[in-house]
Amino acid sequence: MDYKTNIEAELKTAAALAEDALEGALSPAFTGNTVVGEAMRYSTLGGGKRIRAYLVIAFCTLFGGTNQAALPFACALECVHAYSLIHDDLPCMDNDALRRGKPSCHIRFGEAEALLAGDALLTYAFECAASNAYVSAGSVRLAVKTLAAEAGPRGMVGGQTLDMAAEMKDYGELCAMIDGKTSALIRAACLLGYYAATDEADPAVIEKITAYANAIGLGFQIHDDILDVTSDTATLGKEVGSDEKNGKKTALAFMTLDEARKTEEDLVRHAREAVAGFEGSEALADLALWLSRRNK
Ligand code: IPE
Ligand code: IPE
Ligand code: MG
Ligand code: MG
Ligand code: MG
Repeated sequence: MDYKTNIEAELKTAAALAEDALEGALSPAFTGNTVVGEAMRYSTLGGGKRIRAYLVIAFCTLFGGTNQAALPFACALECVHAYSLIHDDLPCMDNDALRRGKPSCHIRFGEAEALLAGDALLTYAFECAASNAYVSAGSVRLAVKTLAAEAGPRGMVGGQTLDMAAEMKDYGELCAMIDGKTSALIRAACLLGYYAATDEADPAVIEKITAYANAIGLGFQIHDDILDVTSDTATLGKEVGSDEKNGKKTALAFMTLDEARKTEEDLVRHAREAVAGFEGSEALADLALWLSRRNK
């Protein structure tokens, strides 16, 4: 399958826009010249694929919104994501010392500062989303409610709780865990992009966006699980073999590598079908494919 758009260039552009906006948002003038502020910047700036920021911008564009309207929501998503990674790496969770090619936040700043930097990024995300001056109050309300729901106990935190317990007995239970720990923030990113463009939330549109997000979210985590056993630490920028070290239940507990790759292909197809009816959705279709081919 070939790409119809220059998806790599689109990702680069969106990442640069998001990085610029985050630099401004997380300046020492805002965070205060504190160690926590430094830890927030360390873990949020200068690294990461910025997939969630891209999704906010791409869905906002798809529904006729501007980059200006999308960027505060994109920053909010990247802050919640960065917080989830800081806490995920802590000794009480995955105990990983490397993130995005650098020492993890708690290695660089200590556990207490890492915990607080995560807390600060989570709360700051809502300040950032609520301060979006380029969208209506209705859009802000929808965005804040969605981000809170997807980040919380029925979303990312709920999935991380299941991941830690590692009691999944079959593929269905694994999917439920991934739906929380990984798909929830990806869903939030796609939906916040839509809400940056409109405050008239159309249930039929939301259903399609959700189907796309769920498919790329599950595929994204299956690919992450594959890379944990097939990649190397230098390429990945995080320690390979982390899942085995921690006795984690990943996709590979329920299927072979080949089956996992085949499952990913099916999910790419589902994702592409979900957005096929939206005019101008070629880049989103390409993103689903690109994610399944990524090497980190
Ligand atoms: C890592 O997310 C955590 C998972 C959900 C697997 P990413 O792979 O998007 O991390 P960055 O932002 O590119 O570092
Ligand atoms: C993490 O899943 C998901 C979240 C941080 C919410 P992983 O534990 O597999 O992510 P990596 O591999 O450490 O990036
Ligand atoms: Mg984890
Ligand atoms: Mg981890
Ligand atoms: Mg992983």
